[in-house]
Amino acid sequence: MAFPIQRLRRLRATPQIRRIVRETSLEPANFILPLFVVNGESVRKEISSMPGNYQTSIDQTIEICRDAQAASIGGVILFGIPDQKDEDASGAFANDGIVQRAITAIKRELPRLLVITDVCNCEYTSHGHCGKVIHGDVDNDITLDWLAKGAVSHARAGADIVAPSDMMDGRVAAIRSALDKEGFSNTPILSYAAKFASAFYGPFREAAESTPQFGDRRSYQMDPANAREAMREIQMDLEEGADMIMVKPAMPYLDIIREARERFDAPISAYQVSGEYSMIMAAVRNGWIDEERAMMESLTSIKRAGAGLILTYFAVKAARLLNSPAC
Ligand code: PBG
Repeated sequence: MAFPIQRLRRLRATPQIRRIVRETSLEPANFILPLFVVNGESVRKEISSMPGNYQTSIDQTIEICRDAQAASIGGVILFGIPDQKDEDASGAFANDGIVQRAITAIKRELPRLLVITDVCNCEYTSHGHCGKVIHGDVDNDITLDWLAKGAVSHARAGADIVAPSDMMDGRVAAIRSALDKEGFSNTPILSYAAKFASAFYGPFREAAESTPQFGDRRSYQMDPANAREAMREIQMDLEEGADMIMVKPAMPYLDIIREARERFDAPISAYQVSGEYSMIMAAVRNGWIDEERAMMESLTSIKRAGAGLILTYFAVKAARLLNSPAC
């Protein structure tokens, strides 16, 4: 049966009708806000390419977390920027490191706020790579040890979930076994399973001061052309014990999210990364697109593709909009 019996415009006619036939809806619990924590007191330094996002000292991070909790978002994910970087990323797993102290402080002030931590070394190494560099390349198995120590230090400080983002082979198994050995068998792992070597991380590297000093990350992050390999990465991470997986970036990889949703039953998240945010905000600042509509449309597309959880720099703004009576 086709036109003129079928007229799809009938169900688009009014906001009331559109509302009851809407297939995808967003809620504040879907959003996780990334935060960049630095040392110091009263620091709130805006990241120039990411308007509305800051490097903050622990006291200011807590204030942002208060707003995040008031907006009922799902939680926050912490990135640390240490004062000192070294060859061996010692700040990544120091018990008094910047992230470890931030977790404890946030949990003390806001015990009900979900705190996820990014487990990686690139913010802590002097060369900006995600692990131990030997002969110009990141050594996989030595790096596993650093990651396991980092994850345990986060769990010990009070992190609710740890999220490894380094793309070493075997890191989920290494982290799971270290957590279990140290008494954290209930700490879930959210693995950045399909993480692509993407140009869209550009602004993040300014925010986290983690640009590689030589070379790039293509020997560990995935080639943007590869979808089947992404499925292998996800499958291996799940077999190693990942509780949730992530696809990153989000919008240029919606097909990967969709395919993962169809193949796997574990919760799937996606990271709308810094460059995705910066592109939208740059167009907004030029008056070329409407901020609220572009924000909600981009987030809806990621959820529609199959991600139940979205890491996004819009988290609080989008949640506030959803919470507002007009919405
Ligand atoms: C690395 C890490 C990166 C991001 C999250 N974790 C950057 C990278 O791999 O270079 C990117 C997030 C973003 O761009 O918003 N530990």
